[in-house]
Amino acid sequence: MKAVVIPTSPGGTQSTFPKVKISSLGELTTGVTVDFNYPLDNEPNVLVKLGQKAEGGVGPDGDVVAFSDLCQHLGCNWGYVAPGASPKANPSFSASGPVGYCPCHASVFDLTRGAKVVGGPSPRPLPQVQLEVDGSGNIFAVGMGPPSIFGHDTGSTDVSNDLKGGNPVTS
Ligand code: FES
Repeated sequence: MKAVVIPTSPGGTQSTFPKVKISSLGELTTGVTVDFNYPLDNEPNVLVKLGQKAEGGVGPDGDVVAFSDLCQHLGCNWGYVAPGASPKANPSFSASGPVGYCPCHASVFDLTRGAKVVGGPSPRPLPQVQLEVDGSGNIFAVGMGPPSIFGHDTGSTDVSNDLKGGNPVTS
């Protein structure tokens, strides 16, 4: 497993997340997702402009958020579902707001509230990518919030352990 960019401390311990450009505000369309890998080069995430203010959201409307694409239940890739829409995997489900929907076992994550679990078996919310926007509207990933990315839980409360990669699933 290879890192995107991993600064190391003098002792060689990986301790901080890299800063990586993801997109720019001018390139985003509400409800259209942008896939990117972070903090390792094989760790998938989804960025989306929700069209409504969200916890941790950036941009002039505070509505641009990004989360790990790996469901915290068993690691499937979830998909974005716009308010009032239904996922292909479950036409009978209608999203009451912008959510992430996991097609494997129907976990639902409220993307306006830090990917809080609002349905299905996921035991935890999705890790949120910490974003920054510069004066030109460029959007950068600068860190990951808890919990640990699926498959990287070392039992530590230090989420920067996720940078090390390759740890066994412990939950
Ligand atoms: S893997 Fe997502 S709900 Fe089971």
